[in-house]
Amino acid sequence: MSAYSRTPRPALWRAVIIGSAAAAAALLVATMSTGPTPARAADPTLHQLMVNKGRVYFGSATDNGELSDTPYTTILGSEFGSITPGNSMKWDTIEPTQNTFNFTKGDAIVTFAQAHNQIVRGHTLVWHNQLPGWVSSLPAASVQAAMENHITQEATHYKGKVYSWDVVNEPFNDDGTYRTSPFYNAMGTAYIADAFRTARAADPTAKLYINDYNIDGTGAKADAMYSLVSSLKSQGVPIDGVGFQGHLAVQYGFPTNMQANLQRFAALGLDVAITELDVRMVLPADSSKVATQNQYYTNVVNACIGVTRCVGITIWDYTDKYSWVPGTFSGQGSALPWDENLLKKPAYSAIAAALGLTSPSPSASASSSASPSPSASRSASPSPSVSPSASPSTSPNPGGGCKVVYAASPWTESAGVGGFTANITITNTGSTPISGWSLKFSLPSGQTLTQSGWSATYAVSGQAVTATNVSYNSAIAAGASIGIGFNGRWTGSYTSPTSFTLNNVACS
Ligand code: G3I
Repeated sequence: MSAYSRTPRPALWRAVIIGSAAAAAALLVATMSTGPTPARAADPTLHQLMVNKGRVYFGSATDNGELSDTPYTTILGSEFGSITPGNSMKWDTIEPTQNTFNFTKGDAIVTFAQAHNQIVRGHTLVWHNQLPGWVSSLPAASVQAAMENHITQEATHYKGKVYSWDVVNEPFNDDGTYRTSPFYNAMGTAYIADAFRTARAADPTAKLYINDYNIDGTGAKADAMYSLVSSLKSQGVPIDGVGFQGHLAVQYGFPTNMQANLQRFAALGLDVAITELDVRMVLPADSSKVATQNQYYTNVVNACIGVTRCVGITIWDYTDKYSWVPGTFSGQGSALPWDENLLKKPAYSAIAAALGLTSPSPSASASSSASPSPSASRSASPSPSVSPSASPSTSPNPGGGCKVVYAASPWTESAGVGGFTANITITNTGSTPISGWSLKFSLPSGQTLTQSGWSATYAVSGQAVTATNVSYNSAIAAGASIGIGFNGRWTGSYTSPTSFTLNNVACS
């Protein structure tokens, strides 16, 4: 392990353009974070490699206690495009006593994400575990109202701040039967559809997921999830994605037909994502176990990249220093791509290589900052589908007024070449609701979309981009905001678009 060394972090540029009808002016703010000078400009992060594959993010779980560990947060904030709170948005943290909500810990995760241009996977609204005692003690007749209240309060609080929600977590036993819980016991399987409808009503923009473990490969549990999700879709329940946790173990073999399994869910018209990936082993580690672990990480990345609608991969924290595994599986661990000293392991190199980074030998790659393969890092990849668009019943915005905040995090891979993630917040500053919208802007010369983005349908003609609402965010109430985004590539030098129209009304 001592052979591993830390890879220098690339400098991160941030550019923010704020357009405001009231101010009738555009403000460009560009800052450059300070940090170690990169050994070479071409060190891509896992997130950048994932974006280059046309996907939305490569992410990590994290927790509040870890945010005071500066070496840890330096990597967390720069290597990943998405973070998931490991505990701080769970029921016992958010609503420890009935109708008393404490968002402090979850807010701290969101604040970190926003400061590092990361999206947040909200985890989780309804789960049998980490439930405060008062929920289990409720009479059955009171459970539905309590569940709906919890979802409404939490999803409303984080509206516009989370990319997705794990609305229902782990509904099945391993044999594919439904797991008992206060929710199942009170409402039967109907609690699931009710939870999704309640979440959508509270936050029309967040992508809504169901999430479970041991569904990564085909089998009884994955079949049960497939039947459930098929049924939810056919009933019109607002579900956008399925999360495959990916808690794997070297000693249990790799999930059967993982890519084909992901693909059948995607074929239902859903996004899929690997949401909690780790690959544990019985300690001590040896070369054989490490080789198997490397292969499993490679296999997972290949399975995701092989499915166009696999939007992202999240590892369940990135370092063995903060892994949940040793505390739960005595004598097991070493599950993550960074070791306890925050040094990259061969698993990191396996992931990076599967995402297109030139892969030296495991020992060398784990200790060096390998360059990306130019062809892999620059190639435009197939785009994941986005949610189906509503008929674009765009209407003028008679109340006038819109504000657009375009927050981009571009990176440089080699001289004059790089990628970027753009998160766009649209605010209706007028006095009347907007019903159906199209946002138009021009990408600067040399920029392209590599991925069809999230929370809007994107049409590109030359440099002109039109982002049209999807069904669940067509309405923007007076004073309300919605968030959309996409990933792209730039050549030359990076600049952000400078003017926007919403339904052909200038926002600045
Ligand atoms: O915060 C208390 C602390 O005050 C107390 O001193 C300490 C004593 O044990 O416990 C602390 O709480 C722990 C909590 O993590 C925060 O660290 C709990 O004991 C511990 O059980 C809890 O474990 C979490 C586990 O979910 C609970 O089920 C893990 O951190 C978290 O990574 C894990 O995540 C789950 C996903 O949500 C769902 N999928 C499986 C995954 C792994 O189990």
